Amino acid sequence: PQMKETVPLIVEWYRKNRRDLPWRKNINAYRVWISEIMLQQTRVEAVKPYYERFLSELPDIETLANVEEDKLLKLWEGLGYYNRARNLKLAAQQIMEQYGGKFPETYEKIRELKGIGNYTAGAIGSFVYDLQKPAVDGNVFRVVSRILEDADDILKASTRKKVESLLEEVIPKESPGDFNQGLIELGAIVCLPGGEPKCEICPVSHLCLAHRDGCELEYPVKKKA
Ligand code: ADE
Repeated sequence: PQMKETVPLIVEWYRKNRRDLPWRKNINAYRVWISEIMLQQTRVEAVKPYYERFLSELPDIETLANVEEDKLLKLWEGLGYYNRARNLKLAAQQIMEQYGGKFPETYEKIRELKGIGNYTAGAIGSFVYDLQKPAVDGNVFRVVSRILEDADDILKASTRKKVESLLEEVIPKESPGDFNQGLIELGAIVCLPGGEPKCEICPVSHLCLAHRDGCELEYPVKKKA
Protein backbone atom coordinates (compact mmCIF):
# COMPACT_ATOMS: atom_id res chain seq x y z
CA PRO A 1 0.00 0.00 0.00
CA GLN A 2 2.85 2.37 0.80
CA MET A 3 4.38 1.86 -2.63
CA LYS A 4 1.08 2.03 -4.47
CA GLU A 5 0.39 5.56 -3.24
CA THR A 6 3.70 6.77 -4.58
CA VAL A 7 3.01 5.66 -8.16
CA PRO A 8 1.05 8.61 -9.59
CA LEU A 9 3.33 11.05 -7.77
CA ILE A 10 6.48 9.48 -9.20
CA VAL A 11 5.04 9.42 -12.73
CA GLU A 12 3.98 13.06 -12.52
CA TRP A 13 7.29 14.13 -10.98
CA TYR A 14 9.23 12.34 -13.71
CA ARG A 15 7.25 14.01 -16.47
CA LYS A 16 8.04 17.45 -15.06
CA ASN A 17 11.59 16.92 -13.87
CA ARG A 18 13.25 14.43 -16.17
CA ARG A 19 16.65 15.29 -17.51
CA ASP A 20 16.96 15.63 -21.23
CA LEU A 21 19.24 12.65 -21.95
CA PRO A 22 20.15 11.34 -25.42
CA TRP A 23 18.61 7.90 -24.85
CA ARG A 24 15.30 9.44 -23.88
CA LYS A 25 14.91 10.84 -27.41
CA ASN A 26 13.65 8.84 -30.41
CA ILE A 27 12.99 5.86 -28.21
CA ASN A 28 13.32 2.43 -29.74
CA ALA A 29 14.51 -0.91 -28.42
CA TYR A 30 17.96 -0.64 -29.99
CA ARG A 31 18.68 2.80 -28.52
CA VAL A 32 17.39 1.87 -25.06
CA TRP A 33 19.26 -1.40 -25.07
CA ILE A 34 22.63 0.17 -25.93
CA SER A 35 22.15 2.94 -23.37
CA GLU A 36 21.18 0.63 -20.53
CA ILE A 37 24.17 -1.64 -21.15
CA MET A 38 26.52 1.34 -21.20
CA LEU A 39 24.92 2.79 -18.06
CA GLN A 40 25.29 -0.43 -16.09
CA GLN A 41 28.80 0.29 -14.91
CA THR A 42 29.41 3.79 -16.20
CA ARG A 43 28.10 7.20 -15.14
CA VAL A 44 25.66 9.22 -17.21
CA GLU A 45 28.11 12.01 -18.06
CA ALA A 46 30.79 9.52 -19.11
CA VAL A 47 28.35 7.56 -21.28
CA LYS A 48 27.02 10.52 -23.29
CA PRO A 49 29.89 10.94 -25.80
CA TYR A 50 30.24 7.18 -26.30
CA TYR A 51 26.56 6.74 -26.88
CA GLU A 52 26.22 9.07 -29.86
CA ARG A 53 29.43 7.80 -31.45
CA PHE A 54 28.43 4.16 -31.04
CA LEU A 55 25.02 4.76 -32.59
CA SER A 56 26.33 6.67 -35.56
CA GLU A 57 28.94 3.98 -36.29
CA LEU A 58 26.58 1.07 -35.56
CA PRO A 59 23.11 2.44 -36.24
CA ASP A 60 21.15 -0.80 -36.21
CA ILE A 61 21.07 -4.41 -35.08
CA GLU A 62 22.35 -5.83 -38.37
CA THR A 63 25.39 -3.55 -38.44
CA LEU A 64 26.19 -4.46 -34.84
CA ALA A 65 25.82 -8.18 -35.58
CA ASN A 66 28.40 -7.88 -38.37
CA VAL A 67 30.88 -5.45 -36.86
CA GLU A 68 34.49 -6.50 -36.61
CA GLU A 69 35.69 -7.12 -33.09
CA ASP A 70 38.48 -4.53 -33.44
CA LYS A 71 36.07 -1.81 -34.41
CA LEU A 72 33.63 -2.79 -31.69
CA LEU A 73 36.26 -2.67 -28.97
CA LYS A 74 37.59 0.66 -30.28
CA LEU A 75 34.12 2.15 -29.92
CA TRP A 76 33.99 0.81 -26.37
CA GLU A 77 37.53 1.82 -25.42
CA GLY A 78 37.46 3.70 -22.12
CA LEU A 79 34.09 2.37 -20.95
CA GLY A 80 35.65 -0.78 -19.52
CA TYR A 81 34.03 -4.14 -18.86
CA TYR A 82 34.55 -5.17 -22.46
CA ASN A 83 32.39 -8.26 -22.17
CA ARG A 84 29.46 -5.90 -22.27
CA ALA A 85 30.42 -4.99 -25.84
CA ARG A 86 31.06 -8.60 -26.86
CA ASN A 87 27.69 -9.60 -25.48
CA LEU A 88 26.00 -6.80 -27.41
CA LYS A 89 27.33 -8.26 -30.62
CA LEU A 90 26.35 -11.81 -29.65
CA ALA A 91 22.84 -10.69 -28.80
CA ALA A 92 22.59 -8.81 -32.10
CA GLN A 93 23.53 -12.03 -33.90
CA GLN A 94 20.92 -13.86 -31.85
CA ILE A 95 18.29 -11.32 -32.95
CA MET A 96 19.32 -11.71 -36.59
CA GLU A 97 19.09 -15.49 -36.42
CA GLN A 98 16.06 -15.98 -34.22
CA TYR A 99 13.93 -12.95 -35.06
CA GLY A 100 15.05 -11.89 -38.53
CA GLY A 101 16.68 -8.75 -37.16
CA LYS A 102 13.59 -7.45 -35.39
CA PHE A 103 14.03 -6.80 -31.68
CA PRO A 104 11.77 -9.20 -29.72
CA GLU A 105 8.83 -7.63 -27.91
CA THR A 106 8.07 -9.92 -24.98
CA TYR A 107 9.83 -9.86 -21.65
CA GLU A 108 10.76 -13.55 -21.81
CA LYS A 109 12.33 -13.28 -25.26
CA ILE A 110 14.20 -10.09 -24.38
CA ARG A 111 15.45 -11.68 -21.18
CA GLU A 112 16.98 -14.59 -23.13
CA LEU A 113 19.34 -12.34 -25.08
CA LYS A 114 23.02 -12.53 -24.21
CA GLY A 115 24.02 -9.99 -21.60
CA ILE A 116 20.46 -9.02 -20.69
CA GLY A 117 19.28 -9.66 -17.13
CA ASN A 118 16.08 -8.80 -15.31
CA TYR A 119 16.93 -5.12 -15.02
CA THR A 120 17.72 -4.52 -18.68
CA ALA A 121 14.82 -6.67 -19.91
CA GLY A 122 12.48 -4.69 -17.66
CA ALA A 123 13.91 -1.38 -18.81
CA ILE A 124 13.57 -2.17 -22.53
CA GLY A 125 10.21 -3.89 -22.04
CA SER A 126 8.67 -1.04 -20.07
CA PHE A 127 10.25 1.98 -21.81
CA VAL A 128 9.70 0.71 -25.34
CA TYR A 129 6.83 -1.78 -25.27
CA ASP A 130 4.84 -0.59 -22.24
CA LEU A 131 5.24 -3.95 -20.52
CA GLN A 132 4.35 -3.91 -16.83
CA LYS A 133 7.72 -5.20 -15.72
CA PRO A 134 10.01 -3.67 -13.09
CA ALA A 135 13.57 -2.50 -13.74
CA VAL A 136 15.38 -2.79 -10.41
CA ASP A 137 19.00 -1.76 -10.29
CA GLY A 138 20.94 -0.63 -7.22
CA ASN A 139 19.54 2.90 -7.39
CA VAL A 140 15.95 1.79 -7.66
CA PHE A 141 16.49 -0.66 -4.85
CA ARG A 142 17.76 2.17 -2.64
CA VAL A 143 14.65 4.28 -3.35
CA VAL A 144 12.24 1.42 -2.65
CA SER A 145 14.02 0.20 0.47
CA ARG A 146 13.82 3.72 1.94
CA ILE A 147 10.17 4.25 1.06
CA LEU A 148 9.28 0.91 2.66
CA GLU A 149 11.95 1.03 5.35
CA ASP A 150 12.79 -2.45 4.23
CA ALA A 151 15.79 -3.87 6.09
CA ASP A 152 16.24 -7.01 4.01
CA ASP A 153 19.77 -7.55 2.76
CA ILE A 154 20.31 -6.08 -0.70
CA LEU A 155 22.88 -8.79 -1.42
CA LYS A 156 20.35 -11.61 -1.23
CA ALA A 157 18.64 -12.74 -4.42
CA SER A 158 15.42 -13.29 -2.49
CA THR A 159 15.33 -9.61 -1.49
CA ARG A 160 15.67 -8.50 -5.06
CA LYS A 161 12.92 -10.90 -6.14
CA LYS A 162 10.66 -9.60 -3.42
CA VAL A 163 11.15 -6.00 -4.55
CA GLU A 164 10.56 -6.99 -8.17
CA SER A 165 7.27 -8.72 -7.43
CA LEU A 166 6.12 -5.91 -5.17
CA LEU A 167 6.79 -3.38 -7.95
CA GLU A 168 5.20 -5.60 -10.58
CA GLU A 169 1.95 -5.34 -8.64
CA VAL A 170 1.85 -1.55 -8.66
CA ILE A 171 3.29 -0.67 -12.08
CA PRO A 172 0.62 1.37 -13.86
CA LYS A 173 -0.81 0.01 -17.12
CA GLU A 174 -0.80 3.37 -18.87
CA SER A 175 2.78 4.39 -18.14
CA PRO A 176 5.07 1.62 -16.95
CA GLY A 177 8.04 3.30 -18.62
CA ASP A 178 7.53 6.67 -16.98
CA PHE A 179 7.09 5.02 -13.60
CA ASN A 180 10.26 2.93 -13.95
CA GLN A 181 12.23 5.85 -15.31
CA GLY A 182 10.84 7.97 -12.50
CA LEU A 183 12.27 5.55 -9.94
CA ILE A 184 15.62 5.54 -11.76
CA GLU A 185 15.61 9.33 -11.94
CA LEU A 186 14.69 9.72 -8.26
CA GLY A 187 17.61 7.46 -7.39
CA ALA A 188 19.91 9.47 -9.64
CA ILE A 189 19.09 13.04 -8.64
CA VAL A 190 17.08 13.03 -5.38
CA CYS A 191 17.30 9.86 -3.31
CA LEU A 192 21.08 9.90 -3.34
CA PRO A 193 23.30 7.39 -1.60
CA GLY A 194 25.58 8.20 1.27
CA GLY A 195 24.93 11.28 3.33
CA GLU A 196 23.11 13.33 0.78
CA PRO A 197 19.53 12.38 0.02
CA LYS A 198 17.60 15.50 -1.00
CA CYS A 199 14.39 14.72 0.83
CA GLU A 200 13.32 18.38 0.73
CA ILE A 201 12.72 18.11 -3.03
CA CYS A 202 11.39 14.54 -3.08
CA PRO A 203 7.81 14.14 -4.35
CA VAL A 204 7.18 11.17 -2.04
CA SER A 205 9.03 12.13 1.14
CA HIS A 206 5.68 12.40 2.97
CA LEU A 207 5.07 8.73 2.16
CA CYS A 208 8.61 7.53 2.87
CA LEU A 209 8.88 5.46 6.04
CA ALA A 210 12.63 5.91 6.39
CA HIS A 211 12.18 9.67 6.10
CA ARG A 212 9.42 9.61 8.73
CA ASP A 213 11.83 7.92 11.09
CA GLY A 214 14.81 10.03 10.07
CA CYS A 215 16.85 7.00 9.12
CA GLU A 216 17.21 7.35 5.33
CA LEU A 217 20.94 6.79 5.61
CA GLU A 218 20.53 3.33 7.08
CA TYR A 219 18.98 2.08 3.82
CA PRO A 220 19.54 0.01 1.80
CA VAL A 221 20.84 -2.54 4.29
CA LYS A 222 23.90 -4.45 3.18
CA LYS A 223 24.85 -7.11 5.67
CA LYS A 224 28.48 -8.06 5.96
CA ALA A 225 29.29 -11.48 4.64
N1 ADE B 1 20.93 4.78 -15.27
C1 ADE B 1 20.52 3.59 -15.74
N2 ADE B 1 19.53 3.75 -16.63
C2 ADE B 1 19.32 5.07 -16.74
C3 ADE B 1 18.43 5.86 -17.49
N3 ADE B 1 17.58 5.30 -18.34
N4 ADE B 1 18.48 7.19 -17.33
C4 ADE B 1 19.37 7.73 -16.48
N5 ADE B 1 20.21 7.05 -15.74
C5 ADE B 1 20.20 5.72 -15.87
